[in-house]
Amino acid sequence: MDLSTTYLGLRLKTPFIVASSELTDSVEKIMQHEKNGAGAVVLKSMFEEQILAESYTSAISDMNESPDAFDYIQQYQAAHSAEKHLKLIEEAKKSVSIPIIASINCVSKSKWIDYTKSLETAGADAIELNISFLPTDMNITGEEIEQRYIDIVQAVKQTVKIPVSLKLSPWFSSLPNMLYKFYIHKIDGFVLFNKFYHTDVNINTPELSVGSIFSDPGDFHHSLRYIGLMSGAIKADFAASTGIHTPETAIKLLLAGAKAVELASILYKKGSEYLLVMKEGLEKWMEEKNYSSLEEAIGICSFKNIKNPNGYSRIQFMKYFAKIQ
Ligand SMILES: Cc1cc2nc3c(=O)[nH]c(=O)nc-3n(C[C@H](O)[C@H](O)[C@H](O)COP(=O)(O)O)c2cc1C
Repeated sequence: MDLSTTYLGLRLKTPFIVASSELTDSVEKIMQHEKNGAGAVVLKSMFEEQILAESYTSAISDMNESPDAFDYIQQYQAAHSAEKHLKLIEEAKKSVSIPIIASINCVSKSKWIDYTKSLETAGADAIELNISFLPTDMNITGEEIEQRYIDIVQAVKQTVKIPVSLKLSPWFSSLPNMLYKFYIHKIDGFVLFNKFYHTDVNINTPELSVGSIFSDPGDFHHSLRYIGLMSGAIKADFAASTGIHTPETAIKLLLAGAKAVELASILYKKGSEYLLVMKEGLEKWMEEKNYSSLEEAIGICSFKNIKNPNGYSRIQFMKYFAKIQ
């Protein structure tokens, strides 16, 4: 049975990608994921600020963060320096045959973009750009923010030859229009969607706290909708992310048009071996449905291919309560 897929022009033995996180921060962990059936890994992100080797001091004082946070960031910087990151890519490339996708977390176009060339030289097979700009200033317009994204994409695409994907949030006024603009600027793929650090409030202290860092199994519907809507409309590869905890959920996203699925929370909870469960579940389903190759199934439920695609564009419940299909 052929579980292979093509994502960003790379051949993946399975559609399961270990998402950017500490799960991919050492060669040993990456080797383990390959053994358990990962099709590729995305390395823990390098942050724009780290690459610029800037101190976080000013950013932290701006954010009014605690000294604990400062210590944490300093330790993080020491453990994940730009040089160490390049070494990790070189070592991983010698040790495994699955593609190694580098990841950069960024918010603006600046000197860090040169570093993408070093990632390419070190052997990265592709780059995933995690652009996450959270507007908090009332004077910044949506248009300005969109232009920031485009500027970054343009600059990175002019710097490297390896494929580049964009890991995005769903928070655009017109996500389809933005994806189309990125496509015009030659982006090779999209990861829909990123999961963000949740802000919460501790009602006893009372002060700000952190929400769950892990996703819930029901968190995949947004990704499903937009991958279904856009995968047949734009000639770029889509990977699904957030809330993929079971083989069944992975299959749904592949049917909607994802070429691959990225997993983090479930692997944190169940360990790398859970990749075997994902793989077996997919194989079992393909056998039951008589698919000998995964590529036959990818996208058959996309907006473009499914008989009744209305469900993709429905967001209100009125028709549901009126029992109208
Ligand atoms: C502990 C942890 C660390 C993460 N670190 C990164 C990171 O460095 N870069 C990134 O793009 N995403 C990071 N993520 C987000 C994951 O790659 C993934 O997109 C998100 O967790 C949603 O997928 P999931 O539902 O399978 O967890 C992290 C997630 C977790 C839980």
